Amino acid sequence: MIIETFVLTPFQQNTRVVVCEQTRAAICIDPGESSTGIVNFLQKNDFQLQAIALTHAHLDHIGGVSALYGVFPNADILLHKADEELYYGLPEQPLLMGVPRAQLKALGLDYEIPPPLTRNWQDGEIYAVGSLRFEILHCPGHTPGHVIFAEKTERKVFVGDCLFEGSIGRTDLPGGNSEQLINSINRRILPLGDDFTVYTGHGNETTIGFERATNPFLTGVYQI
Ligand SMILES: [Fe+2]
Repeated sequence: MIIETFVLTPFQQNTRVVVCEQTRAAICIDPGESSTGIVNFLQKNDFQLQAIALTHAHLDHIGGVSALYGVFPNADILLHKADEELYYGLPEQPLLMGVPRAQLKALGLDYEIPPPLTRNWQDGEIYAVGSLRFEILHCPGHTPGHVIFAEKTERKVFVGDCLFEGSIGRTDLPGGNSEQLINSINRRILPLGDDFTVYTGHGNETTIGFERATNPFLTGVYQI
C-alpha cells in the first residue's frame, strides 16, 4: 500500500491518495481542496484513480471533489447516505460555521454544489482497490454519515475526523453528537486492534494502542 498525504486548506486537512502497489489502482480519500499536487502525483506515477472516497462531507474534506472529478471523470464518488445533505449543501456550509456571506470569496470558501455521488457507502461493505480490501464502517457522531476505512491485512485505518492524536472530533456542528461519537470509537475503532496505524483527518498519524492508553477522551480523564 502506498499512502501519500497532502495537507490542504486553512484547516490543515490531511487528503490522502492510497494506492495498491501491484495494480496501481488508487483512491483519493477526502480531497479538501483543488490541488495540482494530487493530480500530478496520480498522473506522473500512472496511478488509476478509481474513486473519490469520502469519510464525511464537511467542507474541508470535500472542497476538492469538483476539481479532482473534473480531471478524472471516470472516478466514482462515494459517501454515506446520512451525509448527503451536507454534501449537496456545501455552498451553505461556511455560513453555518458563522462565516459572513460577504467574506466567502476572499476566504476561498465560495463553493459550488459538488458533482453527483455515484452511490452510497453501505455499512460493513468490503471495498476493493486492486488487492487492498477496505472494510467500510459507519461511525456517526462527528457527522451523521461519517465512515472509516479499515484495511485489516495492512493493519491501517483511515478515520477522518472521528479520532485524532490525543483528541476526538468536534461534535458542536450541525448533526454532531458526542455520545454517538464515543460509541463509534469504542464499538468500531478500538476493537480493530492496538497495532492498527490510524490515519487521521488532521494532525499526525497515531495507533489505536497509543490512543487507548493516552487519549484523555478515551481514558476517562475528560468526560463529555
Ligand atoms: Fe469534519
